Amino acid sequence: MMIALIGLPGGGKSTVGRQLAKRLNARFVDSDAVLEERIGMPIRSYFEQHGEAAFRDEEEAVIDVLTASDADKALVIATGGGAVLRERNREHLKSRCTVIYLRSSPDELYRRLRHDTQRPLLQVADPMAKLRELYDQRHPLYEQTAHYVVDTGRPSVGSLVNMIIMQL
Ligand code: S3P
Repeated sequence: MMIALIGLPGGGKSTVGRQLAKRLNARFVDSDAVLEERIGMPIRSYFEQHGEAAFRDEEEAVIDVLTASDADKALVIATGGGAVLRERNREHLKSRCTVIYLRSSPDELYRRLRHDTQRPLLQVADPMAKLRELYDQRHPLYEQTAHYVVDTGRPSVGSLVNMIIMQL
């Protein structure tokens, strides 16, 4: 079974994904890490040098390869928060994986990310406003791509993993 976690940055896709994979005896992969290997530099540097559109092209190639990997079906993929922006990614994710949307409020994400320096989209004067904007723009895309939605608000990582496993 191939599972993809989607949602805004800071919602716990990697942390939850790693534990979920352990519980399911599956392999875990973080699409941002695969992407950084492919581009040979941190995402932040790539954004600065080549811009967001070039980054999205690379991201699309990575999502395509990862979701097409039927050699390794027991796989949990944590995707980058912006992966759903491209229609092809939404299609590939939805048709090839069980997609879980980890839904978090902008306030919760702000609490977790206010000291973050690695996410280029949040290196702005008002990261809270940016998170609200990202939420409004992407929430409908996450909802349309997901098979299941899980709220990250209160539960611990362990209970989020249990909630996901019950949905599968
Ligand atoms: C992005 C989210 C990041 C990373 C890049 C762009 C986004 O991934 O792909 O900085 O557009 O939301 P995480 O969601 O893992 O932080």
